[in-house]
Amino acid sequence: MSLFSGMFGGKSHQLKNALSLRDIEVDMHSHFIPGLDDGSKSIEESVEIIKQLAVLGYRKLITTPHIQVDYYRNSAENILPGLDTLRLAVKDVGIHIGIEAAAEYLMDDGFEDKIKTDDFLTFGSKHILVEFSYFSIHPAYKEYFFELQVNGYKIILAHPERYSFWHNDIGKFEDLKNRGIFFQMNVGSITGYYSPEVKKFAEKLIDADMIDFIGSDIHNQKLMDELVKSRYDRLMEKLLNKGKLLNNTL
Ligand SMILES: [Fe+2]
Repeated sequence: MSLFSGMFGGKSHQLKNALSLRDIEVDMHSHFIPGLDDGSKSIEESVEIIKQLAVLGYRKLITTPHIQVDYYRNSAENILPGLDTLRLAVKDVGIHIGIEAAAEYLMDDGFEDKIKTDDFLTFGSKHILVEFSYFSIHPAYKEYFFELQVNGYKIILAHPERYSFWHNDIGKFEDLKNRGIFFQMNVGSITGYYSPEVKKFAEKLIDADMIDFIGSDIHNQKLMDELVKSRYDRLMEKLLNKGKLLNNTL
């Protein structure tokens, strides 16, 4: 370790050689359909980023526009035509990568109606991606999870490491794991993109063997850059070396 890397702490945590992300195979969390949410602003932007994912060795992308009762009232009706447009644009420039669409469902007051109508976009074998609000947990979340499971859904909780209201209570996460909920970690959490606290908690969840999927949660080029950066991150190395990720089963 050089004097400077020792003083500033950062460099010594970086890997010299880039990790290969090829074995992940499938990314199952991103926002590539323009106009539907806070993700990609244009088809051109999406195509440009998808090109970079193909170069890294991804064989399939499952893009997941937000569905929220307040801000993003999306459904299959606008997501599936958006998927068609995206697929055509990617094919047009000769990129060989599979693209599917599902959604990232916020567990909000509109969620109960969706359970009643059994109206969900899924991937894999009836996998569904859900997220909590960053500010508070929905009081009925356990009931909602139970209902979904009774209906045969496999629930993947998006970025558990970002729910700071539970950072002091890992028991809440253990309880969800005991209920058969899968956890998907964000790449940006590993690289420290969101905050040092989120990175620290991400390491805790990795050390506890709780992570089942890794997702890029790409909204724009900035998050694509984080994915590239993660190839030099010791925490990413730790996660990959555990050999527990299920992305390639989707
Ligand atoms: Fe997301």
